[in-house]
Amino acid sequence: MKRIIALTGIVALCTSTSFAFEPKELQKRSDRGFQVEKIEYTVPDVKDIPDNKYGEMVKYGRELIVNTSQYIGPEVDDPKMRFAGNNKQCQNCHLDAGTKKYSAPFVGTYGEFPQYRPRENGLGTLTARINGCMQRSMNGYPLPAESKEMQAMKAYIHWLSQGIPVGGASKIQGRRLAKVDRKMVKQQAADPVKGKAVYEMHCAACHGVNGEGIKNEGKAQGYLYPALWGTDDTYNKGAGMYRILKAADFIKSNMPLGATKENPILTDEESYNVAAYMNQDSHYRPEKINRSSDFPDNRVKAPDVYRPNIESIEHKFGPYGNIIK
Ligand code: HEC
Ligand code: HEC
Repeated sequence: MKRIIALTGIVALCTSTSFAFEPKELQKRSDRGFQVEKIEYTVPDVKDIPDNKYGEMVKYGRELIVNTSQYIGPEVDDPKMRFAGNNKQCQNCHLDAGTKKYSAPFVGTYGEFPQYRPRENGLGTLTARINGCMQRSMNGYPLPAESKEMQAMKAYIHWLSQGIPVGGASKIQGRRLAKVDRKMVKQQAADPVKGKAVYEMHCAACHGVNGEGIKNEGKAQGYLYPALWGTDDTYNKGAGMYRILKAADFIKSNMPLGATKENPILTDEESYNVAAYMNQDSHYRPEKINRSSDFPDNRVKAPDVYRPNIESIEHKFGPYGNIIK
């Protein structure tokens, strides 16, 4: 089966929160003489991967991002290599091998680590960040820091980030995700009922009426269209994609497949509502153990993290007006 790609246009709005190295902070630094010029978003050419030991690692790292399930998925022959708990590929979310603008690309990522992480309330390494996605988005286990696989993924991210200085990544357009209108999300709650209609019209053809996706034939081959809920082959409840605002931000600039920030297909409101439908808790999704220890410091808790008995239901679907300052 071939993938269908659709395209139409509306413009997205983009706002920003502030942490070290983010625009507001950098403005303060530039007042003290630290100035980072605006940097073009450029993706180095795969043909230019050097023909040496480093290049071998970079290539293997890229392969792991693209075909994750074939190397560390739950269906690989060697039980010791079954680190991921689902049959996703990293690039199901980090599109085009982690190079597509506004799909949380790895371009510029390397120089952003170590990094203050609100979820862990500490200084996190790139290794730990990758393992965050391993345990949450991939519903699996951490890769050992010294494993060839971890080293290779880091080498690839290093290669993609070449030329971008520490603190420079936030000066690149296309880093991270583009945010849906935060004024809207403060004023209105996401509506999963309206989201269901969006899903049926724009998503179900690929991801299935019950979020089940379409699996490729053969062992460890992953999905043609990844599952979004209803099976253990999905991200778990500790994942960023389980959060309504994160998911809405991703969806607006990336889904249906073919959408971009410049040429989105859904409106901000449709993205927000469909994110709520996808992530509503009547849809089965694996749990993440020990989720209650995420975001130990209330001051930096992400607004859209909802855990029953910890946060009020407003954190799940909004409105976020009382939560986002
Ligand atoms: C279900 C979707 C999903 C999958 C699958 C996934 N990730 Fe992520 N990843 C995210 C989201 C969402 C973020 C946060 C993006 C943001 O907030 O800017 C993220 C962030 C990251 C970051 C930090 C990027 C940066 O520039 O700060 C790294 C590194 C990363 N992921 C690596 C991986 C690797 C390696 C895999 C596969 C083993 C993977 N991810 C699989 C959703 C996913
Ligand atoms: C034309 C087929 C198609 C349509 C329509 C489509 N998607 Fe996707 N979607 C994909 C593919 C393919 C991927 C994986 C991207 C890759 O690997 O390159 C994906 C990835 C995702 C992901 C990444 C997370 C994961 O768990 O893997 C989410 C979330 C998602 N789609 C949501 C949606 C939503 C919501 C809609 C409707 C608004 C939608 N998609 C419409 C094909 C589609």
